[in-house]
Amino acid sequence: MWTKAGKALLAGCLFALGSGAVLAADADPQKQIDEIKGALPKFAIPMREVGDRFQNIYFAAKGGNWALAAYMSKYMNGAMNPAKVTKPNEYKVWQGFYEGAFAPVNKAIQAKNLKAFEGAYTAVINDCNGCHKAMGYSFIKVVKLKAPADNGVDYKVASQPGDVPP
Ligand code: HEC
Repeated sequence: MWTKAGKALLAGCLFALGSGAVLAADADPQKQIDEIKGALPKFAIPMREVGDRFQNIYFAAKGGNWALAAYMSKYMNGAMNPAKVTKPNEYKVWQGFYEGAFAPVNKAIQAKNLKAFEGAYTAVINDCNGCHKAMGYSFIKVVKLKAPADNGVDYKVASQPGDVPP
């Protein structure tokens, strides 16, 4: 049996649903787009993932798991995709970094050249931090970890860089 309070609650919910539907139909599409954009990550959330994947790349390469290294690099870059929409100008700087300063790291992974990789990897940390400085975040200073950020995968599975599915 419906109690009085239950009925009132149900009526309230139906009213809220009804008025929501009316609102959505009336809403300005630009405002809705802005609201969705506002809910997408900017730089801080994707950068968390960039930071972790970047650390993992090193241990994957070192362990001869070249596919994992290539994979981590690919999705380190992919993590920044929301910034294409939320921070288009800053995203271009990221894209320039990934296609420029970071290219020697990717090249060494593809060539399975550990020596070239170590040099390129160490050097690019300065570029990560250079961008932090340029964007007003000199207090975010990337340092190389002694162990991967994520310990839940095996860094020593022998693999080829080309093993990553497209
Ligand atoms: C295009 C400029 C740019 C580049 C290149 C860049 N970063 Fe960042 N990073 C930022 C900005 C800006 C922030 C601060 C977050 C914000 O503005 O919301 C940040 C924040 C971070 C953070 C802190 C995230 C948090 O909130 O916990 C880490 C970790 C990080 N970056 C790692 C890296 C690493 C590793 C690289 C290089 C592989 C790198 N970043 C390259 C711009 C950059």
